[in-house]
Amino acid sequence: MGSKVTVDSIMGMKGKRKIAVITAYDYTTARICDKAGVDIILVGDSAAMVMLGYKSTIPISMDEMLVFCKAVSRAREHAMIVADMPFMSYHVSVDDALYNACRLIKEGNADAVKVEGGREFKHVVEAMVGTGIPVMGHVGLKPQTSPLWQGYKVQGRDSDGACRLMRDAIALEEAGVFSIVLEQVTYEVAKTISDTLKIPTIGIGSGSACDGQVLVLHDILGLYEHSPKFVKRYADLSSMMLDALTRYRDDVLNSRFPGDEHTFHMDVQEYERFKEEVKMMMNKGIRYDERGGSEIR
Ligand code: KIV
Repeated sequence: MGSKVTVDSIMGMKGKRKIAVITAYDYTTARICDKAGVDIILVGDSAAMVMLGYKSTIPISMDEMLVFCKAVSRAREHAMIVADMPFMSYHVSVDDALYNACRLIKEGNADAVKVEGGREFKHVVEAMVGTGIPVMGHVGLKPQTSPLWQGYKVQGRDSDGACRLMRDAIALEEAGVFSIVLEQVTYEVAKTISDTLKIPTIGIGSGSACDGQVLVLHDILGLYEHSPKFVKRYADLSSMMLDALTRYRDDVLNSRFPGDEHTFHMDVQEYERFKEEVKMMMNKGIRYDERGGSEIR
């Protein structure tokens, strides 16, 4: 697959080729994502929903994010790993933000962190980038806070909303982010922002004009019950798993599994000796004392 993807290589892809980003949260699937040649694996806080069963991304903690991040980073050979800063890990103070970002890099082995928000977090992003931590921005629908205000709604439908998004994106570029996720913004806004910024935009539900695309792994594989309209499903793993597990259960209940091909055997002579020993034990009436671990009769 070639050398590891870096911040510089991602920035250099703008205008040359599209950037493929996918989320992952565990070692096994991250290995497959890496082998598939995606450029960035995002350890998203969507883990709160698809891995932990919460109703939103808000409850996930730093410690939970770190578990997922470590697992993914153990799997990576090629892709760049970006880890989401969870809700409350950068909202209270710049010191908190720096401390938590450093944990994702140092303990989680991430290459960069992602922060949701625009102008209101410019000073936080500047501080992180200033200490040498690469940051990915995230504007448009912000799953950590948008539901508290207007729900999960497409952003940038009117000119005022579009201008706010544009200002947010410019502020983040000025603060030093190396790329920006545009979540569920209209095609026109995504195109204008992508054409204006020098850094790559990564769209999710924001149309084809973005410099790259990101989707949630469980959505494209058909593993999660609810997936949004903008998702393209590349597989229906839920149905495949349900079918496989139902057949496994039936095989166990009907003694069709395990077969001889799944079974280990003793050497024939050893088995004969073993049977003789058992016969002798039974004749002597030997039992095993569970408490003492010794022969009691
Ligand atoms: O948490 C996540 O998976 C994300 C993507 C949807 C961009 O932030």
